[in-house]
Amino acid sequence: MRVLVAGASGFLGRSAVRALVAGGHEAVGLARSPDKDAVIRAAGGTPVRGDILSIPALVEAAKGCEALVHAAAAATTASREIGQSVAAKVRVDGAYNLVAAARKAVRVPLTVKFRLGLDSARANYLELGRICQEEGADAVALHARTARQMFSGQPDRERIRLLKDALRIPVSGNGDIETPEDAVALWRDTGCDGVMIGRAAIKNPWIFRQIAQRRAGRPAHQPTLEERRDLIAWHFGLLRERETEEFALHKIRTFTGWYTHGLPNGRALRQKINSLPSTAHFMDALEQFFAEAIATPADTAGSPLVSGTGAPALALTAQTA
Ligand SMILES: Cc1cc2nc3c(=O)[nH]c(=O)nc-3n(C[C@H](O)[C@H](O)[C@H](O)COP(=O)(O)O)c2cc1C
Repeated sequence: MRVLVAGASGFLGRSAVRALVAGGHEAVGLARSPDKDAVIRAAGGTPVRGDILSIPALVEAAKGCEALVHAAAAATTASREIGQSVAAKVRVDGAYNLVAAARKAVRVPLTVKFRLGLDSARANYLELGRICQEEGADAVALHARTARQMFSGQPDRERIRLLKDALRIPVSGNGDIETPEDAVALWRDTGCDGVMIGRAAIKNPWIFRQIAQRRAGRPAHQPTLEERRDLIAWHFGLLRERETEEFALHKIRTFTGWYTHGLPNGRALRQKINSLPSTAHFMDALEQFFAEAIATPADTAGSPLVSGTGAPALALTAQTA
């Protein structure tokens, strides 16, 4: 099978190309500029020139391909358009080959995640789930929205239940889990085996521990000021290892906003770090803010990242994927 991989030169794309080629398929990698050709070739793919964000270019490149793998967040919208037009031919039977190829290529547990379908009229998640099961996937996860919905509307949890009932392999439910209570409710209402969390984990990385605690009937751990400070410093350190100082400072601002959500004066810290020019300035501001917060009486330590009553304490507004 000839498969178009959009985003083929990135890490995920190269992995997809290698897996496809190992499974005996032909992987066509879209490359915006000639310098990406060698990377795609090294992974075993065939480069074709085209801009990942240009729908006409993707349509052109998709000709003669039987399936499309999107391996970059930027490619999502364009790929979806393709899915609705040319490779609407992204036939479900193509999934057989993809899952089978992946199964052959890897020894690690193979899991597949998908949505309900392109739109509600073409919901094929049950069929896709059965294909994954037959072709040897170890587990599947369902984001219970259609592709057309993107992140709008509500996930259809009833369909997670239907998929769970239809399959023998484990099924994880996904979509809008923001609090431990949401996770527990999803388990209860759908019987699903696992809960997959996307956006909430970025903003509240403690959510997994909090869910485990709630599930065990214990109160959810609220991160302490020290834990929040250490997380910001650790995250910033990771960014500095990989990125320029300017980029790291820019990126950590967003995360500092999430990690200090609800703290008194958190806003002042966020405003302050908006204009800091260097790592040293940032670390000083961080230390000073938390030293003051830690010295303040505990009852002003800020609102929890999850509420004790089940109401979401996080303001989830940003769309990241
Ligand atoms: C940073 C980020 C990157 C994501 N990348 C992908 C991806 O490459 N492929 C995919 O199918 N879904 C991706 N997603 C979507 C999530 O897996 C998930 O289905 C979606 O965010 C809904 O779950 P949530 O409401 O818990 O965020 C991504 C989500 C985020 C936040």
